[in-house]
Amino acid sequence: MVYTSLEIDEILNKAPVMEPQRQFYFVDQCRKIISALEEKKGRKLTVCINTFGCQMNAKDSEKLLGIMEEIGYVESDSEDSDFVLYNTCTVREHANVRVYGRLGVLKNSKDKNPDMIIALCGCMMQENAVVEKIKQSYKHVDIIFGTYNIYKLAELLFLHFTQKKMQIEIYESPQEIVEDLPSERKFKFKSGVNIMYGCNNFCSYCIVPYVRGRERSREKEDILREIRNLAADGVIEIMLLGQNVNSYAYGFPQLLAEAAQIPEIKRIRFMTSHPKDLSDDLIRVIKDNPKIARHIHLPLQSGSTRVLKEMNRHYTKEGYLELVDKIRSEIKDISITTDIIVGFPGETEEDFQDTLDVVRKAKFESAFTFIYSKRSGTKAALMPDQIPRDIVNDRFNRLLALVTEGATKQTMRYTGQSVEVLVEEINQKDPSLLTGRMSNNSLVHFKGSNDLIGTMAKVHLDEAKGFYYLGTLIRSM
Ligand code: 5AD
Ligand code: SF4
Repeated sequence: MVYTSLEIDEILNKAPVMEPQRQFYFVDQCRKIISALEEKKGRKLTVCINTFGCQMNAKDSEKLLGIMEEIGYVESDSEDSDFVLYNTCTVREHANVRVYGRLGVLKNSKDKNPDMIIALCGCMMQENAVVEKIKQSYKHVDIIFGTYNIYKLAELLFLHFTQKKMQIEIYESPQEIVEDLPSERKFKFKSGVNIMYGCNNFCSYCIVPYVRGRERSREKEDILREIRNLAADGVIEIMLLGQNVNSYAYGFPQLLAEAAQIPEIKRIRFMTSHPKDLSDDLIRVIKDNPKIARHIHLPLQSGSTRVLKEMNRHYTKEGYLELVDKIRSEIKDISITTDIIVGFPGETEEDFQDTLDVVRKAKFESAFTFIYSKRSGTKAALMPDQIPRDIVNDRFNRLLALVTEGATKQTMRYTGQSVEVLVEEINQKDPSLLTGRMSNNSLVHFKGSNDLIGTMAKVHLDEAKGFYYLGTLIRSM
């Protein structure tokens, strides 16, 4: 389908100004182009979205896939697809390197299939240097957009089809929050729900505030309406998402309590909590609502008060440990998980010993450990005394060993008990087993019929296997 430039102008002029109507208009326009292409090729067109990074990106990818399916593409997990999109992360340097590597490989696929469209979006694209590099060295990329305009995918695709040149649209700062766009879920029975976007904390090592902008909270009614719609569509578990949910503008504990009132929703998770903002109110709401998962992800980052100050974290070693104690004494069966960075500029062996000390005392059920990665533009990138690689590696290994040892003991303390799980999938390694997730996020593998997937079940925890349990199904619920 080939439009004249006059026709294109007319289509663009007629586009509604308001969102989301404007995007639905471009979805319709793209659908016409895709139908014509389908006819020509005698098959459906495929889309493959590859997501790097955090839950926030995973959720954005569901929205992007929702738009693509509305246009007429069918999902594929092969990168030999007609449309390949990388939703990128830039929290650590390694993520960027991987994307460049894979873009090189995609070039070969595109040489074989010149109609293939390659698109890039996400946090990495908010960095000028990245976009410049792609413009120069990866000319086979067709569409680039950032974190503030994912809702405009249909419009950008239309421009790509009609203008045939690299489309780049990156905004410097956040736009309006566009509600009610289509979204496709990876799981029928569980879904992430954004409650806020961006971050105001400016931890000195972190690039997120620069690539995701200042905090914007969604209206409480919009969030609750989305959850009710999800519930009506078969969702029983939701995960409320924000870079720091505790600073949700209209009251996070209240939002949680109201979400817990929705009858069809059986379980509510949330991610992530900044220790400086975790309130007594929140602890009470979790304690009073059995539907709220017994799990708090509470990034520590460092156990040294001195390093925490340099990181701009606004809490001390003692303050963090007191908070952990308070949570554990109020909610006995809670799991506390964390993120820890080793090798922050200026970190001494003594600072690192403080981190190990907190790990011993806090008894984390699990911890994600990261080697500090210098991100240009952040305050820490300019700090003197970046730690040599061999010292960092040695600390990282010691930390990982301690975390693993502690976490195994801690997570396996429920052996012999019967618990409720959400049955999530067929076990990936042993298809004769199902995998269920406990409220505290631990996994249990057990025998049962596949139609239990997506439902709650009661399971006996027979045997602790380090990071998971083997169990026996007692009954479905
Ligand atoms: N280097 C290493 N880890 C980082 N994180 C954020 N920025 C960096 C960085 N520059 C980690 C933090 C955060 C998690 C999502 O990623 O631990 O909690
Ligand atoms: Fe980054 Fe800190 Fe914001 Fe988390 S709270 S996204 S670590 S700046």
